Amino acid sequence: MGALLIADRLTKNFGALRVADQLCLSLHTGARHAVIGPNGAGKTGLVGLLSGTLRLDAGSILLDQRDITRLPPDARVRAGLVRSFQVTNLFPNLRVRENMFLAIAAASGQCGSIGRAAGRRADLLVATDAALDRLKLLPLAHRRLGEIAYGQQRLVELALTLALHPRMLLLDEPAAGIPGNETHLLLDAIEALPADLAFLLIDHDMQLVRRFARAITVMARGRVLAEGAPDDILSDPLVRAAYLGAGP
Ligand SMILES: Nc1ncnc2c1ncn2[C@@H]1O[C@H](COP(=O)(O)OP(=O)(O)O)[C@@H](O)[C@H]1O
Ligand SMILES: [Mg+2]
Repeated sequence: MGALLIADRLTKNFGALRVADQLCLSLHTGARHAVIGPNGAGKTGLVGLLSGTLRLDAGSILLDQRDITRLPPDARVRAGLVRSFQVTNLFPNLRVRENMFLAIAAASGQCGSIGRAAGRRADLLVATDAALDRLKLLPLAHRRLGEIAYGQQRLVELALTLALHPRMLLLDEPAAGIPGNETHLLLDAIEALPADLAFLLIDHDMQLVRRFARAITVMARGRVLAEGAPDDILSDPLVRAAYLGAGP
């Protein structure tokens, strides 16, 4: 079985700053892959490069052997590569389901048609409610987003991505802001998703990473510092030093 995603020598500069420096990454179908590293390592930059919101200076990206390097973000979404949404980009006064319609339409490049009849598009309704149901959020579909618990709002973000029929999900700090004693809800939700869905997850919470990941990439200064099985990576002194910001 070949890799689902192959990122080859991704390079991106912001002026003199290298956010990605010959970064290589490979993920298989069903991967549970975590990316960790100190603040400013380029983790969010990597998500931007993979999802197409940041333009590469050099390098290439293959998704299922298809070169998507030059595809715009909405075309990558339609190809199955989906990044998490930020709850801050959603609308607290709109209902959960309405937020889903708008975000799905925007991410998949259907804004033109959605403007006319968001709630009447049968395909969107089906995809939306199936995704909400999968995360046990259907009873909240009619609630205003701002009224439900923060942890549930973050699950709505996850539901949004599911409704886009991903083959690979990029989750950038999905547990940020969720109280520690509720992060298990997110992990439970992820574990209940189809096994062939591939995940790239970024998080600072090592307990969460340890429970989630089957492979870990450590980034520092736009480069891959180390990669391997969680037990090896998390006990590596070099990694620990770099993660604390004292790396080579
Ligand atoms: N749009 C931008 N313009 C200039 N510098 C940026 C931009 N986005 C991020 N950076 C810088 O790139 C580096 C990597 O950022 P980021 O990928 O957000 O790191 P991480 O997510 O690992 O904390 C940081 O030094 C950050 O300040
Ligand atoms: Mg970040």
